[in-house]
Amino acid sequence: MRFYLGSMARNRFNSGTTPEEELPKVKLNKASIQKAEGLLTYLKPYKWKFIIGLIFLFISSLTGLAFPSLLGAMIDAAQGKHKFDFIHPSINALGYTAFIILFIQSFVSYFRVRLFVEVAEKTIADVRRDTYFKLITLPMDFFANRRVGELNSRLSADLSQIQDTITTTLAEMIRQIVLLVGGIAFLIFVSHKLTLFNLAVLPVLVISAIFFGRLIRKISRQAQDKLAESNTIVQETLQGIANVKAFANESYEAKRYDKSLREVVQIALKGATLRGGFASFIIFCLFGAIVGVIWYGSILVLQGELSVGDLTTYILYSMFVGAAMGTFPDLYANVQKALGATERVIEILSEKNEAVSMEASENITKQVIKGDLAFNDVHFSYPSRKEVEVLKGLSFSAKAGEKVAIVGPSGAGKSTIASLILRFYEPQQGGLLFDNRPSESFALTDIRNQVAIVPQDVLLFGGTIRENIAYGKLNASDEEIITSAKQANAHHFIQHLPEGYDTIVGDRGMKLSGGQRQRIAIARALLKDPAILILDEATSSLDSESERLVQEALEVLMKNRTSIIIAHRLSTIREADKIVVLEKGQVIEIGTHEELIQNEEGLYRYLSQLQFEA
Ligand SMILES: Nc1ncnc2c1ncn2[C@@H]1O[C@H](COP(=O)(O)OP(=O)(O)OP(=O)(O)O)[C@@H](O)[C@H]1O
Ligand SMILES: [Mg+2]
Repeated sequence: MRFYLGSMARNRFNSGTTPEEELPKVKLNKASIQKAEGLLTYLKPYKWKFIIGLIFLFISSLTGLAFPSLLGAMIDAAQGKHKFDFIHPSINALGYTAFIILFIQSFVSYFRVRLFVEVAEKTIADVRRDTYFKLITLPMDFFANRRVGELNSRLSADLSQIQDTITTTLAEMIRQIVLLVGGIAFLIFVSHKLTLFNLAVLPVLVISAIFFGRLIRKISRQAQDKLAESNTIVQETLQGIANVKAFANESYEAKRYDKSLREVVQIALKGATLRGGFASFIIFCLFGAIVGVIWYGSILVLQGELSVGDLTTYILYSMFVGAAMGTFPDLYANVQKALGATERVIEILSEKNEAVSMEASENITKQVIKGDLAFNDVHFSYPSRKEVEVLKGLSFSAKAGEKVAIVGPSGAGKSTIASLILRFYEPQQGGLLFDNRPSESFALTDIRNQVAIVPQDVLLFGGTIRENIAYGKLNASDEEIITSAKQANAHHFIQHLPEGYDTIVGDRGMKLSGGQRQRIAIARALLKDPAILILDEATSSLDSESERLVQEALEVLMKNRTSIIIAHRLSTIREADKIVVLEKGQVIEIGTHEELIQNEEGLYRYLSQLQFEA
């Protein structure tokens, strides 16, 4: 019965300390189980291993049940008594049998563990792979409504929970059910009088456990929330440490954290009072029950109704049963969590993704785009904010090889145009033409393979500079990488880094300056050699010297391809073949610099005068 107490302790007493382990649970019912069936298909390839594992598990649980009887029989045999008149096993025979069973049990246990872990690892790897692929091929819109952390936790926490359930919880559950049912059967068989006596104590225990359990759980939840709250303080201040220091608010933050910690302690102490009371109550009841059983059992032995061996057997079985009962709340909670996790994973798996193939070999351009691009009366609003029309009947065109600049106030819809060219979103009305053909007639991969973007805020991956440049063309040779870095005016600074091209750029490219990151992005785009190039304010955050370097790099990049240049600084786009002036999602002016500057009332002239004066 120590097990009983132990698992209660794990279940109720510690649940407040690790907030990230607490996944939401769902009710165990038909609907939630049906949803989980979606994941069963992943188990199919490993079906036989799983079934054999189940059989081994069953055998090992059954053999476990044999021990109390064997031990009891041994004690009786030592006193010259025998339970059954027709067999009189010697102590040695019983001992051998016990060892043989023990051997069988360890043998099957080994295979059971080995098989279950293999099945779970492989199944979950399959699910992970599919979920990940699904995630990265979902339309942009999906990501607008979700936080990255939340999606990330589906891949890590949710799937780990499911894995745990397959390897441990499921096995444990089956084993405990066998032990519980078998144990109770043996208890009745050994002594129904003692069993009845035990049953009288049980309801008191169960009811008080449920009552205290609820109360304690409520308080642990509160403690958990409070702890999470104080962790948020740490996280926020560490993330924004520069702000904290710049405003000299260290002591303010320290006080805030201290206050929150005090509250955590207060709630934890309240919980401790309850738990202490509950623990001593349970200990009293449990050991009371044991004392009672031995007491009453001894009377039965004295009256000749029970042998000493039987009493031993009985006590051992009741420990099995008690332990089994004690683990159920834990196991049940785990299954609930796994079902909740499954539900969330299935939700992603059943989302509709973009038409992108998983095969690396499919990333080959089938339809070449020459570079003509046209927007034809495009009306667009973001799916996450349907009521606001961002583009209102937008039309403009760029011939292959032309430089078209898009200017206009913040929020006019310039970056939205870039997203539409990449087909991150589809317009609600009107459409895009590539080489005078509707964009829908091209495969998504074909378009994205031949359009490159240098965004304003360049995000680099955690690897080396070389890998980051090669992202534009995965099979690029070293020479190609270096050539494009030279053209992007990046070779020089890369060479002066201690590790050159093998420098790790770090989390989000933090170890490089804005201009350096931009030049790497340009090298990346050069390597991709796209038909259409989009520059979204590629030089806006740079000083004059870096701007000159980046501008030079861009000139190289823009040669021989259609370029869409989004710019705030009008000096950078004087040479453009065409300038599109955008306001509130509509084209209000279109022409070359010389043409537009003539229009005295025009927005372009006004904007360039402002910048010139500045
Ligand atoms: N993912 C999105 N979901 C909903 N609305 C969006 C989204 N992205 C942009 N918007 C809205 O669309 C409008 C146009 O945004 P866009 O980013 O195209 O402007 P912009 O012209 O590039 O501005 P800036 O010069 O400041 O970069 C804005 O009103 C913006 O709030
Ligand atoms: Mg923008």
